[in-house]
Amino acid sequence: MRTDTGQVIRLADYSPADFVLERTDLTFELDPRSTKVEARLIFHRRPGVAADAPLVLDGDELSLSGLLIDQAEAEASRYTVTPDRLEIRDLPEESPFEITVVTIIDPESNTQLMGLYRTNGVYCTQCEAEGFRRITYFPDRPDVLSPFTITIIAEKAGNPLLLSNGNFLGGGNYDEGRHFAAWFDPHPKPSYLFALVAGDLGVVEDTFTTASGNEVALKIYVEHGNEPRAAYAMDALKRSMKWDEERFGREYDLNIFQIVAVSDFNMGAMENKGLNVFNDKYVLADPETATDADYANIEAIIAHEYFHNWTGNRITCRDWFQLCLKEGLTVYRDHEFSADQRSRAVKRIAEVRHLKAEQFAEDSGPLAHPVRPETYREINNFYTTTVYEKGSEVTRMIATLLGDDGFRKGMDLYFERHDGEAATVEDFVKSFEDATGRDLSQFKLWYSQAGTPLVTVSTAYDAAARTFTLSLEQMVPATPGQSAKQPMHIPLKFALIGENGGEIAPTAVSGGEVSGDVLHLTERSQTFTFTEVPDRPVLSLNRGFSAPINLSFDQSGADLAHIARHDSDLFARWQALSDLALPVLNKAANDARDGKVVSVDPALVSALIETLANDKLEPAFRAQALSLASEADIARELGGNNNPDAIHAGRNAVLKAVAEKGFSTFERLYKELAPKGVFAPDAAGAGRRALRNVALTYLAHAEESPARAAEAFAEADNMTELAHALTVLAHRFPEADETLAALAAFATRFDTNPLVLDKWFSIQATIPGEAALARVEALMKDPRFNAQNPNRVRALVGTFAFANPTGFNRVDGAGYRLLADQILAIDPRNPQLAARLLTAMRSWRSLEPVRAEAAKAALGKITGAKQLSADVADIVERMLK
Ligand code: ARG
Ligand code: ZN
Repeated sequence: MRTDTGQVIRLADYSPADFVLERTDLTFELDPRSTKVEARLIFHRRPGVAADAPLVLDGDELSLSGLLIDQAEAEASRYTVTPDRLEIRDLPEESPFEITVVTIIDPESNTQLMGLYRTNGVYCTQCEAEGFRRITYFPDRPDVLSPFTITIIAEKAGNPLLLSNGNFLGGGNYDEGRHFAAWFDPHPKPSYLFALVAGDLGVVEDTFTTASGNEVALKIYVEHGNEPRAAYAMDALKRSMKWDEERFGREYDLNIFQIVAVSDFNMGAMENKGLNVFNDKYVLADPETATDADYANIEAIIAHEYFHNWTGNRITCRDWFQLCLKEGLTVYRDHEFSADQRSRAVKRIAEVRHLKAEQFAEDSGPLAHPVRPETYREINNFYTTTVYEKGSEVTRMIATLLGDDGFRKGMDLYFERHDGEAATVEDFVKSFEDATGRDLSQFKLWYSQAGTPLVTVSTAYDAAARTFTLSLEQMVPATPGQSAKQPMHIPLKFALIGENGGEIAPTAVSGGEVSGDVLHLTERSQTFTFTEVPDRPVLSLNRGFSAPINLSFDQSGADLAHIARHDSDLFARWQALSDLALPVLNKAANDARDGKVVSVDPALVSALIETLANDKLEPAFRAQALSLASEADIARELGGNNNPDAIHAGRNAVLKAVAEKGFSTFERLYKELAPKGVFAPDAAGAGRRALRNVALTYLAHAEESPARAAEAFAEADNMTELAHALTVLAHRFPEADETLAALAAFATRFDTNPLVLDKWFSIQATIPGEAALARVEALMKDPRFNAQNPNRVRALVGTFAFANPTGFNRVDGAGYRLLADQILAIDPRNPQLAARLLTAMRSWRSLEPVRAEAAKAALGKITGAKQLSADVADIVERMLK
């Protein structure tokens, strides 16, 4: 493990490498315990660099076993080597020159899952961000690009497949029992996009013909026997390839595209050029084992990694501060893809829910940082929801400011200018400015200022003057390292809705720029005046969530109900309903905390039931509308001194009130939406299942018997309904015999499928209440659990900490202590996983004092440990600052 040095890397310190890498030739002689890596690197000195400047290569836990300069063994006086650095001096005056580095590495003992490691008997790599330096000494930085030639030699037995990036050159027998394969990737790339996979896997094959007529071989490799479960991923891949051609004019550029699914992986997936490596969770699916959410995730992540081929690979990042350049943009692209494949409004609702739950939480706590950070200690800790999801929202705002055509022009220019380069956020923004003439200098603050802006709204209608005034004030909260903020350019989509529900087209506006349905808030406070407005309008603001902000707008219940009923933007209708519900949920939590009877506003209950019963609305939308804000959402809204037990009790009381009032409608829908015909994982089917599941949840809140959920469990013919029935049983009736029987039946039925057992772990880890802790501890000892596998750990320990507010935040602090102990146990083995789990405590300061003290003590226990990885040290110190 790389232990913490406390060293800070700064964006301001960037300078280009002294040496230009022209070519990289790698030869691997694979062996589980002792793999020999020979790297032949051709460099030339960048013009202007001093003749005596040394060549410095990065390493991480490496040992050098050979070094040649222009094919002659290097004398000891010409280099200095440590496990993390190789410095070579007295370089040849002739440029270019060749450096050959030989290292011996041990994949089997690599538990960090960075560099070359083993998973289920397969050799596999993960190099982003800084894993390549665990393979060989190398200029391991994203702005050093070169074509790669790869030769892999391995025992034939156990390794029929030898895969790497680029096009296949050839292969054959090497010597007794061993064979080899050679690959060439002509597209210059940085080391973080390198990949190698070797082993014995099954394959699903297909082809795709690009718009220019090139045929591309498509291959997805999975464990033998899992081939049928890769069909959906293959379909998603072909749809992604087609979509990127149609929407962005981007074609694939090699003759083969390969995806490998592995069972030990720290993240979701990785976009290595021509050879994507995936967490198997995001490849494998069939109706018996995958939920609709699993299918949607697979579609999105397959698309995401494929889209990186242009946004990330063809144009990469100059340095890791620019991570949002590829991630924010690529998330935006995968969101747009999914929106085109499914219902756009429902997709947007799900995105915004996720953004608020994750990114708004991060942005309001000790880990807040700008979309483009300016310093870091451990780059692995910056693969965050801010870089990804807020980065995507910033890209979406550019599209909103420029319109579809302007955005496409800017993207085209970006590709044209920077193809083959390592670019910056400035390059990206400049492409849009130059393509459209729009000045984005104020807009750029979105990349540098952290924190979720708060926009306070007030409105007035003057009937005599027929004017409508809208006053806006923006405030960006202080975040770590940033106390004073400048006003941002905030694009707000809006509509003025008349009494009959139709939109009022404003005639003239003063006070600032309004273009079409977008209002540009650019000052700290600004008043817009609309003239010739015949009647008092209802303002629908931030439609489609055009800007990632919080609104403080004291809109009346009647106005919100009007929007919920009439807005032509479905997203805005959902937003209005949730704005109607939030104060009710907040009050319910406070009533429960104060020991009062929880009262529920009947206006909210009827608005929800009216939406529920409206068969003109698509089921997926109704399911979203009826899914109340989560307990964590309510905690975030309350803002501080939070008591998770009270929030849980209050929210449940609201659920019960809605369930009782809407009982007959829930029952009708539950019956009507029962599955008919063959299962299809499409959006329409998923929507019906989602609404049926919501109905079952509410019915269970109104009923005292587990019978209905038990019957749903017995009858389910797909995983979406099966897992949901089990969740309802476990969460609502944890002690019932029916629940215990269902849990046992589920485990028996899916005994040999770890990905499905992850659902079983997660469902139990999220049963509300104090008893969850003992349950989690017992499950950690279950033979089906495997503490070495990141998916298992995330499913059990991660889900407990992230998604069980009452169980994790036990008032005695035992939940925090369990997490702290797990982090200390995992850290030496897998620092990335440990650091990620620790972020579950990022909102600890908004807990009520007793819990906050207990949380702080657990964090103190982590800081007090003798040795911490750079990953965990960085997170825990920021959390305690
Ligand atoms: N680039 C990958 C993706 O978003 C994620 C890789 C993250 N790796 C890491 N070590 N943090 O598609
Ligand atoms: Zn990505």
